[in-house]
Order: sequence, then structure tokens, then C-alpha cells
Amino acid sequence: MTGNALEPNADEVLAGAAVYSKRPILAAYDLWVLGFVCSRVWHCPNVHMRRLYDRNVDARHLDLGPGTGFFLDKARFPGGDPALVLLDLNADALRRTGARLARYRPQAYQRDVLKPLDLGAARFGSVGLNFLLHCMPGGMAHKAVVFDTVLPYVEPGGRIFGSTVLSHGVQHGKLAPKALESLNGDGVMNNADDSFEQLDAELAKRFPRYRLWAQGSVGLFEITVV
Ligand SMILES: C[S@@+](CC[C@H](N)C(=O)[O-])C[C@H]1O[C@@H](n2cnc3c(N)ncnc32)[C@H](O)[C@@H]1O
Repeated sequence: MTGNALEPNADEVLAGAAVYSKRPILAAYDLWVLGFVCSRVWHCPNVHMRRLYDRNVDARHLDLGPGTGFFLDKARFPGGDPALVLLDLNADALRRTGARLARYRPQAYQRDVLKPLDLGAARFGSVGLNFLLHCMPGGMAHKAVVFDTVLPYVEPGGRIFGSTVLSHGVQHGKLAPKALESLNGDGVMNNADDSFEQLDAELAKRFPRYRLWAQGSVGLFEITVV
């Protein structure tokens, strides 16, 4: 599947999240992916994402695709006791993150972020989608639908923020091209066609106030909803 606008089928969407049910992957994720791979392969140490969280999280926060909950666990929430909602397609990821963040008594919803989220009257001051887009199949135009599905739940002045590994339009280190090829081949990542320019175009279409920048192979963004 190639191209910016291509739409994946339902099995491909499920497969993009299913990999996070595998115990060895979940167990190794924080140390291996967020530790070694972020810094040595993507040249974007996780401190960049931790700063993104600390700068943008609100006391009412929605996290899309929380994975193991690493960044939420480390984040400094204003007031220290946030109303936290976790949303993921993968029930194992929700269970694991829910247990890790039990101190915040999070609510959890099993949902596909590309479909209507059905969160009722809930409204949030911040929404995080970190390392989510690069897992999702389809072209960037299709992945970016997540910004439309979440927007009705964000208050004016609220923040939408996150990061994603990109294949094109960023400065890769030596190890990144082979890693991208292998992780896309295994279906762990789905970003072989994703570019900085496509992500920029999708953000520009929707938001008058946003910032997108690259750190190594990673595109980081923060949006202020008007
Ligand atoms: C790479 S992990 C990111 C985890 C975490 N946000 C981080 O930065 O470490 C991607 C997460 O997105 C979830 N996911 C993938 N596709 C999804 C979809 N279509 N809808 C909802 N969640 C999805 C996966 O189950 C997984 O928990």
C-alpha cells in the first residue's frame, strides 16, 4: 500500500494495534523502544517527548494510543491529580496502562481513533497522540482523520500534541533507513510513505495555530485549538 490518500482495510487497522498485545513487545517497549531506539536509531531521545507532555498536558487530558503509558507516568500534570481518559484499539494496552496509572483512576475506552469516538459530553484541555500515526496503516491524508475525530472533544484554547517517526523530509541517522525498512516489513510500523511535508500539509489544512518540527527521524507537533 503506497500513497498519501490510501485507505487501509479494517484488518490492516487492527493489525496496526495488535502488535501491542505481544508480551515481549510490551515488556521491552520502554527500555528498548523509548530508551535505545529513540535515542540511537531515531536520534530523538525521549526527553523531547517528555518535554512535549510537560508543556502541553492539562488537568483534563485524553491520551490516544497510550501504549505502555510511559509518558503519562512521567508527565507533570497541572495540579497533580488529572482527570485522565485513555483510548486505544488494543484492550491489553489499556489494561496495562490503566494499572500503571491507577493513582489517577483513569477511564479507558477501547476505540479506533479513525472512527467517531463516542465520548459523549466529555471535553478536554489536552489530547496526546504520541507515536500513534506511525503505527497506523494508510496514507497521511487518511491517518490525519484522527485530528477530525478528536477535535469536537477539545475545548477552545486546548492543546493537541504528539510525535511520529517519519520516513521522508527528516534527517535520518545511519541506522534509521534499515530500521524503517525492517519495522515496516514486520508490520510493527506503517510509515514507509509518511513525510514531514505531508504531515505539515494535513495540519495546515485544519489548524491556524500549530508548530511542527523535526528532531532526527521524528516529527513533533503541538496545536492550539482556537
Ligand atoms: C507505538 S504505541 C505508542 C504508545 C505511546 N503513546 C508512546 O508514545 O509510547 C501505539 C499505540 O497506538 C495504538 N493504536 C494503533 N492503532 C490504533 C487505532 N487505529 N486506534 C486506537 N489506537 C491505536 C496501539 O495499540 C498502541 O497502544
